[in-house]
Amino acid sequence: MCGIVGYIGKNEAVPVLLNGLSKLEYRGYDSSGMAVHDGNGLNVRKFKGRLSVLEEDLQKNPITSHIGIGHTRWATHGEPSTVNAHPHMDEQGNIAVIHNGILENYMQLKEWLIEEHNVKFLSETDTEVIVHLVHHFYDGDLLDAVTKAVEKMEGAYAIGVICKEEPDKIVAVRKDSPLIVGRGNGENYLASDIPAILKYTKEVYLIENDETVVLTQDSIAIYDSLMQKVERDIYEVTWTADAAEKEGYAHFTLKEIYEQPKGISETIKRRLTYDDEIFFEGVHLTKEDLEKFTKIYIVACGTAYHAGLVGKRAIESLAGVPVQVDIASEFRYSNNFIDENTLFIAVSQSGETLDTLQSLREAKRRGARIMSIVNVVGSSVSRESDDVLYTWAGPEIGVASTKAFTTQLTMFYLLAMYMGKLLGQLDDAKYAEILSELKNIPDQLAEFLEDITEIQHLADSQFNNESVFFMGRAVDVDISFESSLKLKEISYINSFAIAAGELKHGTIALIEEGTLVMALATQKGLFDKMLSNIKEVKARGAYVVAVTQYGGSEIEKVADSVIRIPQCSDLLAPLLSIVPMQLFAYYVSVARGNDVDKPRNLAKSVTVE
Ligand code: F6R
Repeated sequence: MCGIVGYIGKNEAVPVLLNGLSKLEYRGYDSSGMAVHDGNGLNVRKFKGRLSVLEEDLQKNPITSHIGIGHTRWATHGEPSTVNAHPHMDEQGNIAVIHNGILENYMQLKEWLIEEHNVKFLSETDTEVIVHLVHHFYDGDLLDAVTKAVEKMEGAYAIGVICKEEPDKIVAVRKDSPLIVGRGNGENYLASDIPAILKYTKEVYLIENDETVVLTQDSIAIYDSLMQKVERDIYEVTWTADAAEKEGYAHFTLKEIYEQPKGISETIKRRLTYDDEIFFEGVHLTKEDLEKFTKIYIVACGTAYHAGLVGKRAIESLAGVPVQVDIASEFRYSNNFIDENTLFIAVSQSGETLDTLQSLREAKRRGARIMSIVNVVGSSVSRESDDVLYTWAGPEIGVASTKAFTTQLTMFYLLAMYMGKLLGQLDDAKYAEILSELKNIPDQLAEFLEDITEIQHLADSQFNNESVFFMGRAVDVDISFESSLKLKEISYINSFAIAAGELKHGTIALIEEGTLVMALATQKGLFDKMLSNIKEVKARGAYVVAVTQYGGSEIEKVADSVIRIPQCSDLLAPLLSIVPMQLFAYYVSVARGNDVDKPRNLAKSVTVE
């Protein structure tokens, strides 16, 4: 939702904070700010708008400092504005706070501070309550004051606090919002996410819920909720800072689309034994366990939910087990039938999406076995799961999820095959056939990505459309949903996805001369039916782009344009058909002059309900 960063050490704080914020902008970018101790007291700079506004200010009026905290915001309480930007300060300007998350009881606390202590609030944020609380409890000991403030706080937060009187420390607390600490040499770091500090260190402490950290130049102390010191192992980051750089690509989104062959291949490779058996490290899912499960739920949001839809089809067809897929924000408020005979699978790139996390907790409370498919190592979803299947996509920075999606699909195929084999639903020959095809996908995709001029031309000729329809049948419906989401979030075009068979039940009324219809036709048994649907919309004037690996010249006669994906089975087609759709969305967004990596109103990780 927002990104927080902190630095204390022998070097200049401002460049480190700015660099960290630039890596966290994907989490929010409607305003940014920082507070540093300049030797005399706290110096705060904050502005509405992109980080560049803050950067320009700091270039014009530089500050020398060795300790500071920074924030990049995605507004929740209070509109994006300079006054609502973080850090927030107490009335005397002695304490500064940055916060990622939502304080649920902020109204009560605010009233209490105003009525009982005559505090004057400047902003509309929940965060400002925190700094006044810390000030209220401050009596010469920042750690003690923060601890007392936190006792009063309900909700989700990762906070960083500095104080004029104690320029040698940063105090930070985590509850339900991500927080990591980086260990340097004579300097230490604080951040919402690893890319923010990767330029400086690969030695990271993953901070757990209800833990407090005190960073000084030479020490890092972690405390549990009872303020007992905690020993924590260092997590060595295995990827390089380059992984979080654009490396010559115009945007992270494009780079990440191109990283998909590698991500898929890594996800597969790390799960195969030398004799091609699927092996999930640390996961003990036996035949007896699987036979015990009477229900399997897949729960996720957005793109991860779409991966779940494809996952359901894979598990049902390869393992013969019925699966229900739910949108996480709906899950807790619908009649679901979770008990100890349920396998609950959460899917999340970030592992921090609050709706997904809360659904997981609810399922856990009711006794379900919790499995998760997650990209970010050490994230909340992974830490709260019984079994974790990490996708190996590497850091995904572009707000629109691309490589996380295809690695989630890959993981679902592996899981479905694993379950199918264990349950005796998938014989050795079929298993070997699917696995061999799956292993070949990265090469096919890499070859496909070598020449994408047709998709670029299509985007260049179609970027002015006001609405776009995606349609398909069976798993192509799921990919239509994902394609449509991709297009709307980065191009801002009103797009719809529909099961092609549903067209005639209403939506076809919207088709008129020139309406762009993207028709996914990757399912052999349904190909003729898709041809009929294409003809139906053509007859009403639509401009149809078909995406398929089938059909010879037949489809060329019917559709206006055909995007050919590499030859593949119906089962694995989603891994290939989504990629031209991602590229189409990308190039339409570029043609419309949008900020592809940071589309308006969105944030990478949604840590509010
Ligand atoms: C779309 C997108 C979002 C996320 C959703 C879940 O491109 O990125 O729809 O997929 O917010 O996020 P995670 O996977 O982090 O739980």
